[in-house]
Amino acid sequence: MMNFAIVGCGFIAKKHATSIDNIEGAKLVAVCDKVPELMLPYVEQYGVKEYEDFETMLKIEDIDIVNICTPSGSHATLAELAAKYGKHVIVEKPIAMSSEQSTRIIQAARANDVKLAVVHPNRFRPVAIKLKAILEANLLGKISHALCIVNWNRGQEYYNQATWRGTKEFDGGVLMNQAIHNLDLLLWFLGKPSKVVSMEATRLREIEAEDVSTGIITFESGVLATVQASTTAYAKNFEESITIFGEKGTVKIGGTNALYFEYLDIEGINTEKLKEWKGIVKSDPWGTPGHEQIIKDMVQAIKENRSPAITGEDGLAVLNLVELFYESAKENRIITLA
Ligand SMILES: NC(=O)c1ccc[n+]([C@@H]2O[C@H](COP(=O)([O-])OP(=O)(O)OC[C@H]3O[C@@H](n4cnc5c(N)ncnc54)[C@H](O)[C@@H]3O)[C@@H](O)[C@H]2O)c1
Repeated sequence: MMNFAIVGCGFIAKKHATSIDNIEGAKLVAVCDKVPELMLPYVEQYGVKEYEDFETMLKIEDIDIVNICTPSGSHATLAELAAKYGKHVIVEKPIAMSSEQSTRIIQAARANDVKLAVVHPNRFRPVAIKLKAILEANLLGKISHALCIVNWNRGQEYYNQATWRGTKEFDGGVLMNQAIHNLDLLLWFLGKPSKVVSMEATRLREIEAEDVSTGIITFESGVLATVQASTTAYAKNFEESITIFGEKGTVKIGGTNALYFEYLDIEGINTEKLKEWKGIVKSDPWGTPGHEQIIKDMVQAIKENRSPAITGEDGLAVLNLVELFYESAKENRIITLA
């Protein structure tokens, strides 16, 4: 049995607790939050111990894995501490708020010989898995370019829920919080970036960070990707999509949550086959929730002494890409990677 603890009992912690509960051989034993009443539902539902102080929980409880579900700007300090106490770490996205913080987490995990996984659950969506397989089989031939769009709605009331939201130190804007999922998919699909240029603005929300961003990535392969993201779409989520244009095919995954094949046309694959692929995805668009798969994978990774499916290095790579977008927008220049 693997014993889990959750730190940060807000919105996303519920998904972690439900996922742990669904996994054979996993047990939630403790939770930690600065706000005591937020821990009560977990105590009632799972019979866990509650702690207001993270280090006290790490000292007292027999924990194998800590799930970090606190504001993004606190991930580094908490993850480092958990690693120092010899606990494996599952950290919510973004891994941290800077490359420096992310590297500290990765080094702490290495130094203490614990495993580190970052929660980028969209990689486990059936449509993303299928698109990855299409690309790996080189069915689209040479890729020309890609288009990545996230036009979502997060109203002022969303940002007003907590003081950390929309701040540069603890949350970031649409790129760091929302579109990071899509940037992670772009890296997974298209490889390493070599150049980034970006512009951003804070148009409609009263927050410190950006609510609109547009940028271009050149990948090492030469593929060009345009990224356009916002939380200002009226009055609800409008579109989340990735389109990949290759010499032998065009694929768009889209909808309001990038869950479906919206367009699928590939040379040499007959209409019936393409329809079948679309249908399989449509019949179960979410699949097994990504959170559950990531947590389950961590249990297996420990048992098999292998790396988790989504590593600290994966988390750092996409965090670094977001940083480059910010740097380019701030300095008004194209960033070329060494
Ligand atoms: N992977 C996803 O799909 C996904 C979705 C939503 C949020 N997230 C990420 O999860 C994290 C949390 O987001 P949320 O929406 O649940 O936030 P939230 O504000 O609802 O919850 C955060 C909780 O952490 C607690 N907390 C803060 N500092 C603490 C500390 N030092 N010790 C103990 N408790 C502390 C707060 O009291 C609060 O209850 C963020 O990093 C966010 O980006 C990921």
